[in-house]
Amino acid sequence: MERDREITLRFLAEPTDVNFGGKVHGGAVMKWIDQAGYACAVGWSGQYCVTLYVGGIRFHRPVLIGNMVEVSAKLIYTGKTSMHVAVEVSAGDPKEGLYTKTTQCIIVFVAVDDRGTPVEVERWEPKTEQDIALEQYAKKLMELRKDTEEEMGPHGIVL
Ligand SMILES: CC(C)(COP(=O)(O)OP(=O)(O)OC[C@H]1O[C@@H](n2cnc3c(N)ncnc32)[C@H](O)[C@@H]1OP(=O)(O)O)[C@@H](O)C(=O)NCCC(=O)NCCS
Repeated sequence: MERDREITLRFLAEPTDVNFGGKVHGGAVMKWIDQAGYACAVGWSGQYCVTLYVGGIRFHRPVLIGNMVEVSAKLIYTGKTSMHVAVEVSAGDPKEGLYTKTTQCIIVFVAVDDRGTPVEVERWEPKTEQDIALEQYAKKLMELRKDTEEEMGPHGIVL
């Protein structure tokens, strides 16, 4: 049985998600991103998963309270125990039905057992041209992250 590699969450941005400027709080958006990514990784691996890395979050546009929000998460690369998930957030006025991309990012999850030890995940094989390009993109980002981590050192700078 081929497992699902993508998931979409849909809901309304609630007044409890507001920031000091009257729009949706960036932290609320990051929570939605993590939840959608987690559901995607668990759905693929059939295992509990932990977030290893969240990168490239770019807030292109604000999300407004009362907007319909769509958070789409798609597996774009599997390693031995890790899964790289691309997440995109779109939002818009439900009365108009026009949704625009507000945010995107890549999250790396690792499947773990009851002791928190990484366990192997089923490999995802890209077949379409678009999926091959997405996998290449994930690999390229992995290389870029290696360079960044080398520059930052094992624990980043000391504040
Ligand atoms: C995720 C975690 C289990 C990985 O543990 P680890 O000892 O590094 O495990 P491994 O060395 O076996 O690596 C596991 C996978 O992570 C990848 N990985 C580890 N360090 C990495 C890094 N710095 N960058 C990218 N990938 C990394 C490895 O490549 C491996 O993937 P692969 O099997 O697909 O090749 C551990 O770091 C952890 O528990 N972190 C905390 C997670 C957490 O609490 N998240 C919640 C957010 S606060």
